[in-house]
Amino acid sequence: MNMKKSKLVLALSGALFMTLPMNQAFAHDDHCEIKDTKLGDTMKYMKSELRGYTKGFKSADQKKMQRHLNELLKLSEQAGRMMPVTIAQLGKGDLEKIDYSKMDHDKSEMTEQQREKQAQYVEGIERLHALFQALNESKDKAEIESILDKIKQQTKEGHKEFRQDC
Ligand code: HEM
Repeated sequence: MNMKKSKLVLALSGALFMTLPMNQAFAHDDHCEIKDTKLGDTMKYMKSELRGYTKGFKSADQKKMQRHLNELLKLSEQAGRMMPVTIAQLGKGDLEKIDYSKMDHDKSEMTEQQREKQAQYVEGIERLHALFQALNESKDKAEIESILDKIKQQTKEGHKEFRQDC
């Protein structure tokens, strides 16, 4: 079961639940001060769930693996509906005054560059989601190991491209 195309379209057409506390977020010139975002929290949660999955895998505990995988599938879908700080910052106008949480359902409020970058970001998250789905369909130890490697690689690429460099 793939992350449905309609979900991608929905995400791209502006269902951007950008829940940055914007007033706080852009209160400083240094963008690296933006640390606490909903996407960041989702990522942290994914990190701990992936760790749980790996532990389950190492102890051949199918139930534990499934429990964490279910969370990872949900979290990666949620992450596809959020906007990274680095993309939010490409927006026009006074960043301190834009409330991205109110931009949902109206992609016209995004600049061309933001739309393009956001589409690439969503694709990266979709690839991650597809890898979690591949884990869901595999019972083979070597195959699971190889998918876990791919997840690491995908994460590395996603962070290089979209995470703040600080
Ligand atoms: C299992 C895979 C992944 C894990 C475990 C993971 C983990 C993390 C962690 C721990 C953070 C720091 C959060 C914080 O300190 O607030 C983070 C941030 C971030 N990650 Fe990931 N990540 C994963 C995959 C990805 C992928 C595939 C992408 C992009 C396609 C991505 C994009 C980002 C971005 C943009 C941020 C900065 C948050 C923001 O802009 O609000 N991550 N990630």
